[in-house]
Amino acid sequence: MPAIAIIGGQWGDEGKGKVIDFLAQKASIVARFSGGNNAGHTVVNELGKFRMHLIPSGIFHPQVTCIIGNGVVVDPEVLLDELKALEERGVKTERLLISYRAHLIMPYHRLLDGLEEEARGGKAIGTTREGVGPAYTDKVARMGIRVGDLLDKEFFLERLRSVLECKNQILTKVYGVQPLPLQEIYQKYSEYGERLAPFIREVDQIVYEALKRDELIFLEGAQGTLLDVDFGTYPYVTSSSPFVGGVCTGMGLSPLAIKGVIGVFKAYTTRVGGGPMPTELRDADGREIRERGQEYGTTTGRPRRCGWFDGVMARFSARLNRFTSIALTKFDILDTFPSIKICTAYKLDGTLLEHPPTNPALLERCEPVYEELPGWQKPTSEARRFEELPSEAQRYVRRLEELLECPIGLISVGPSREHTIVRQPLY
Ligand code: GDP
Ligand code: IMO
Ligand code: MG
Repeated sequence: MPAIAIIGGQWGDEGKGKVIDFLAQKASIVARFSGGNNAGHTVVNELGKFRMHLIPSGIFHPQVTCIIGNGVVVDPEVLLDELKALEERGVKTERLLISYRAHLIMPYHRLLDGLEEEARGGKAIGTTREGVGPAYTDKVARMGIRVGDLLDKEFFLERLRSVLECKNQILTKVYGVQPLPLQEIYQKYSEYGERLAPFIREVDQIVYEALKRDELIFLEGAQGTLLDVDFGTYPYVTSSSPFVGGVCTGMGLSPLAIKGVIGVFKAYTTRVGGGPMPTELRDADGREIRERGQEYGTTTGRPRRCGWFDGVMARFSARLNRFTSIALTKFDILDTFPSIKICTAYKLDGTLLEHPPTNPALLERCEPVYEELPGWQKPTSEARRFEELPSEAQRYVRRLEELLECPIGLISVGPSREHTIVRQPLY
C-alpha cells in the first residue's frame, strides 16, 4: 500500500485527529511531517478524550509505528509530558520514533515568540506562543539545534554556547530582558536527550523500507493549507508548510510515493488568531456555531472565529493540494439551522471573484457572496450511511462536492470513532 497524506483544508482544527484515529486502524505507520506543539489534535475513542500536540494520532492502535519527522519542531519538555500522560492512561508509547533531523524548540524560542508578538502590537499574528515560528526561523538561518544533536553532549554544548551568545544579544539589546543561562539550559536539555535517546532514529530509511514492503503509511498534517507559509494568508500564517508540499521535505518522501491526498474540511469555517476571514460571523449564527461546535482552541483555549463554509478558499485549497478525497467533519453541528449558507464567490469593489486575492488588504475587503440551502433540522449523529442522512443534508454534501470538484468520501457526525460515515473509499 502507498503513502496517503491527510491535510487540513482550511485554517486548522478541521478534525484531523479524529479522522486519522479512525483511518489508522489499517495503517502500519502514522507520521507527522510539519508543525510543532502549536497543533492540538483531539482524539475520542474507547480510552477517553486525548489532546495530542506532537505525538501522531495513530498511537492508539497497537500495530502502528508513530513517527515525528524531520519537518517537525520538537519541544522536548512537551513531548516528554505527552508521553507520560499517555502512559498514565494506559496507552503504550514504545512504538514512537523521532527523526534525528527534527529541530528543537529551545527556551529562547518560546520567549522570543511572546516578545515578537508583543512588539507587533495591533498587528499581532495571534501565534500560540509555543516558540514554533522562532524555531523554524533558526532552522532556515542555520542556527538551529537538532534532536539528534543532544546525543553528542560535547557538540551540543559548543553549539548551544555559540547560538545562545547571539540570542542573548537580541534578548538584552533589542528587547531589554534578562539573558538566559547557558549551564541551566545545557543541563536540562542534556537530560531530555538522555530520556529521548531510545526514540531517536534516521526515520527516512524506516519509511522507505515500509514503502518497499507495500505497507500503508499515513502522513498526518498539522495546521491547515490556509496557514501555509507560502500559500496561506501571509503574514497571518504559521512558519511551516502544512499543505501537501510539506510532506516531501518534512518526511524525506518523493512525491511519487504519495498516492492519495485526503483533505479534511469542517462543514463550516473557523479560524483562531489574526488575519482575514471573509465568512466570519459576528452574529447569533456565529455564536451558535461556536457553542454547538465547542469552538475553543485545543492548545490555547482561545475562542475560534466561526463562519459559514468558505467555498472560495476551500476550492483554492482543494486545487493546490489536488485532493483525491475529502473528509467532511463536524457535520452534526449544522443540525439546528433552518437554512445554511455557502460562500461561492467574493465581491470586491463591485467585481465578483472566484479566486481569493493574494493581497491581504484586498482579501480583508472581500464580501462573501452566499448561496442559501435549506437546513435539515434533524439530528445526524446516529447516521452511519449516507442514505440515512436527511435529503437536505445529502444535498448540502453534494453541493460542497461540486464546488470543491472532489468526492467527499467520509462524513464525520460526532467526535468519536464510531460517529463516522464512509461514503466511498478514501484511498
Ligand atoms: P484538529 O486540530 O484538526 O485535529 O482538530 P481539533 O481537535 O483541534 O478540533 C476539532 C474538534 O472537533 C475536537 O474537539 C474534536 O473532538 C471535535 N470533532 C471532530 N469531528 C467532529 C464531528 O464530526 N462532530 C463533532 N461534534 N465534533 C467533532
Ligand atoms: P492544528 O494542527 C489552528 C495558528 C495560530 C496563529 C498562526 C501562527 O490543531 O489544526 P504559530 O504558533 O503557528 O506561529 O501561530 O497559526 N495555528 C493554528 N490554528 N490549528 C492549528 O493547529 C494551528 N497551529 C497554528 O492560531 O493564528
Ligand atoms: Mg487543532
